Amino acid sequence: MMDWTDRHCRYFHRLLTRRALLYTEMVTTGALVHGDVARHLRFNAEEHPVALQLGGSEAAELAHCARLGEAWGYDEINLNCGCPSERVQRGAFGACLMNEPQLVADCVKAMVDVVDVPVTVKHRIGIDKTESYEFVRDFVGAVSEAGCRTFIVHARNAWLKGLSPKQNREVPPLRYELVHRLKHDFPDLMFSINGGFTDRAEMHAHLRLLDGVMIGREAYHNPWLLSEWDEVFYKEEPSTLTREEVEARMCDYMVREAAEHGTSWSNIARHMLGLRNGLAGARRWRQVWSDHKLKTLAPHDVMALAHEPVAQAA
Ligand SMILES: Cc1cc2nc3c(=O)[nH]c(=O)nc-3n(C[C@H](O)[C@H](O)[C@H](O)COP(=O)(O)O)c2cc1C
Repeated sequence: MMDWTDRHCRYFHRLLTRRALLYTEMVTTGALVHGDVARHLRFNAEEHPVALQLGGSEAAELAHCARLGEAWGYDEINLNCGCPSERVQRGAFGACLMNEPQLVADCVKAMVDVVDVPVTVKHRIGIDKTESYEFVRDFVGAVSEAGCRTFIVHARNAWLKGLSPKQNREVPPLRYELVHRLKHDFPDLMFSINGGFTDRAEMHAHLRLLDGVMIGREAYHNPWLLSEWDEVFYKEEPSTLTREEVEARMCDYMVREAAEHGTSWSNIARHMLGLRNGLAGARRWRQVWSDHKLKTLAPHDVMALAHEPVAQAA
């Protein structure tokens, strides 16, 4: 998620779950072809498994960027066919690519031909007000023939005119049943469902029929959720780290990041502000970690301050 799931956020999430697959923000082919590759692709070894999401619509450029992604060690290359933003539409990629299944197929084939890691596609169920199931079915059919075996489906349309990206994550109705139909019609392909999940029981229900569930906003806002996933979804030993231990490890990480890359702790701490949601004192804790006036303090001192008991008037 743009501006959210940067490498600091992913490092944090990886402390909470060893198994869930993490995704980068969308990185455009333009940024990699013309920009600072290391800045966009550098990640921490601890983040694996991690998928690089690319945005673009030019097959040769995507192939070049997929190769770069593989060389940098990403475990999967994912093509964004779901972003509705105007900037992305002007670049003729993201969700508007769903109107051009053959172009997406060509792009996927170009990437599949040059990398060994899986090439996957994230998309919507339709564009604008189209209600037809056949639209998304034919998209998946064409793209799978080019070598994509895994589809991550945000189960609502993207309305390309008149809605902001934020509204496009809320207003078009969710139609999960279309993703189930896709799985029924393409049983050999893998489908992950996405959009609107907050409840573990609901995730479980979909996992009985599908291959994965992708969680966006809820994972970001309530990250402690992730700490039960290894046990609940992967039947592995649960994480033994407490919230305070996770926070302390993040402090260690902030110290390392400052020394190696000059990163300010506030650029990292912003991703963990939901860690204590639901606990007494969470508000004050969040206020301390978001207080830019404390920027000159060492992270472990900020943590101590965030946990300091507050004097109460009698
Ligand atoms: C701030 C923000 C940035 C996002 N950036 C991306 C992105 O770069 N690539 C992408 O495929 N989806 C992006 N999304 C969409 C999410 O991946 C997801 O499809 C959407 O939020 C619905 O899932 P959710 O209800 O679990 O959040 C973004 C969402 C948010 C809130």
